[in-house]
Parts: sequence; C-alpha cells; structure tokens
Amino acid sequence: MITERLLFGPGPSMVSARVMSALSRPVLGHLDPVLLATMDDLRARLARVFRAPAGSRVLAVSGTGTAAMETAIANLIEPGKRVLVAVSGYFGLRLAEIARRYGAEVQTVECEWGRAIDPAEVGRVLGTFRADIVMAVHAETSTGVRNPIKEIAALARAHGALMVADCVTSLGGQEVDMAAWGVDVAYSGAQKCLGAPSGLAPVAFAPAAIEKLVACRSFYFDLGLLEDYWAGRKYHHTICSPLVFAFHEALAAIEEEGLEVRWQRHVTVHQAFARGIGHLGLSFLVPESDRLMTLNTVRVPEGVNEAEVRTALRERFSIEIGAGMGPLAGKIWRIGLMGASASEAHVHTLVGALRATLPH
Ligand SMILES: Cc1ncc(COP(=O)(O)O)c(C=O)c1O
Repeated sequence: MITERLLFGPGPSMVSARVMSALSRPVLGHLDPVLLATMDDLRARLARVFRAPAGSRVLAVSGTGTAAMETAIANLIEPGKRVLVAVSGYFGLRLAEIARRYGAEVQTVECEWGRAIDPAEVGRVLGTFRADIVMAVHAETSTGVRNPIKEIAALARAHGALMVADCVTSLGGQEVDMAAWGVDVAYSGAQKCLGAPSGLAPVAFAPAAIEKLVACRSFYFDLGLLEDYWAGRKYHHTICSPLVFAFHEALAAIEEEGLEVRWQRHVTVHQAFARGIGHLGLSFLVPESDRLMTLNTVRVPEGVNEAEVRTALRERFSIEIGAGMGPLAGKIWRIGLMGASASEAHVHTLVGALRATLPH
C-alpha cells in the first residue's frame, strides 16, 4: 500500500495534484523539441523567481539541492581560491566541506546554532582574510534561521569578492532578490518552497560570476557543458523529462499565484502556526528577529521524548515532521510549512495533532 503523508518536515514538501499530474506526461527524448521548448520557458521562469540580473545564466541541474550547491562551487573554485563561509548550522558546514574538497582555502565565520550570522563579524574577517568568494546559507534548514544575505552580499562586494547564496529553503517562499541584493550565484532545490518533487535543482550565475568561472573539474556539473545542452542543444546527459514538466508546472503555478503573494502566504501561515504552538505552551528556538518563515524550529518541552512524538504523529495522523540535527538533536523539532504544505488548514490539522500527541 502506498501511504499519503502530510509533509511538514524540512523537505520534501507536499506537491499539488496539478504538478503531480504533469509528472505523468510522456517520457520524451532529451533533445525532443517539445522538451527543449519547455526547458527554455522553465529557465526564463526561474530567472524571474531568482530575480536574476540581466545576462545571468540560469538553468536546473539534474539532481537535488546538493547538486546545485556543488555546481556553484565546482565552477568558481580551483585550488588556492580563498573562500569565506558563514556557518550558522549544518548546511553552512556542508558548503565549507565541499569548497575544501575543490581545493579552496576556507575561512569560516561561525555563530551559535539557532542565531543568525552577524554581518559585522563577516566584515571584520573580510578586513584581514582577502576572500575571492563569500558563501552563506540564506535559510539554514538545520536551525530555522534566516541569515542577512543582503548585508553580507554588500560586504562581499565592498571587498571585491563574489557572493554565493544557498536559497534551498527560501526560494519561492521568502524574499530572494539576486539583482537587488548583489548576489552573484544563487541556487535552490525543487522540493521545498518551489513545490515540485526533488530531482531538478536551479542555479543562477550572474554576469560577474560568469566572468570568474574556472576550468570545472567536474564533468557533470560543468556550467559550460550544461549551457551547451540547454542553449546549444548538444547532448550532455539524459534529463528526466517528466521532472522537467512537473517543475515547469510548479513554476507556472508560482507565477499565477504571484511571487510576492506567495511570500506573504508563507508569512501568514507561519504566524498562524506561531499562535497555535503558543496555545500549546510550546516555543521557538530562534528569536523573532532571526526567524525563518518557511522552516520552524520548536523546542521539545522538558521530559518529552521527541522521537516518540514524531512516531505518534506519523502512525496516528500520517504526519511527518523533522528531528533536530547535530547539537540540536533531541532538543527541537523542525517543522516545514513550505509550498503546498503552507496553508492555514494544514496548520490547524498539525496543531490539533500535536495537541493530541503531546503528554498532558
Ligand atoms: C539549506 C540547504 N542547503 C542544501 C540542501 C541540500 O539539498 P538536497 O537534500 O536536496 O540535496 C538542503 C536540504 O535540505 C538545505 O536545506
């Protein structure tokens, strides 16, 4: 039996019937004109969601968010590049790890898990560490924190460094504006706020980053070869056409809803959730000023076994929520309200299920 779940974890989020039905369109060859025309439109739509500056190269890598992360790194980093990574949780650590694997000299700015990076600290380190690239996670999914990318990008620019932003848990759900913020490379995943299944991962390289591309040591993630496929119609890999159709449908739904209306929906749903858990006597890990709207981190009350609550939610209500990671394991739940999962009706179901599950 195939089980349907209410997905309120850190991703994947729920996928609308409209996008699911696009998944059942016929499989087409990777150079079929119908597929290529859809890919052309898909990249134009993605550029608008990223608010990428004119002249950007925007496409979707075949893979998950980590593939997009690796594409950003593999095309900008060669041995000896100096990279400053702002680390406020697990995904910042992953960025630093991949940058090191590509031979970068990595310096980090770190903060307590559950707080946002202080841009002043980034500025201080940039004063002594001459970075080629600054990288930061916008929405840190391991802690529920929103980092100040706009401020960090301004500092990177002032110090002559490129800015790379991980927008996996924010794109399509919270404001992201590459052009206005001066972000040179941004990437995401399909399965969170964008509302599609995982398997295609968007990346956007602004003109300033295109000027600084290195000889890519990965074949699969080589931006030049990917562009030769997306624009030059030259075989590089066999893209999954049903995923392209589904992702395209998800992006069409975003534009029909309106990007800003969608951001506001995530705020409204987050606020409803905050009121709901307030009534249950639960509290957030993250102070309001640093808090993400799309991924909520809720403290596990004293004496409650967090794993038992997650199991009961799954078995009694078919609801998925996420556990804490690293130093936050056992201390928090991670509750995503993203894409099709982000509705007030879902909040009522979730809060009701939590009320029934938590010990009285
Ligand atoms: C902020 C962030 N970056 C990167 C990733 C990696 O994405 P994926 O699991 O799709 O490879 C995730 C996944 O949750 C994430 O939350």
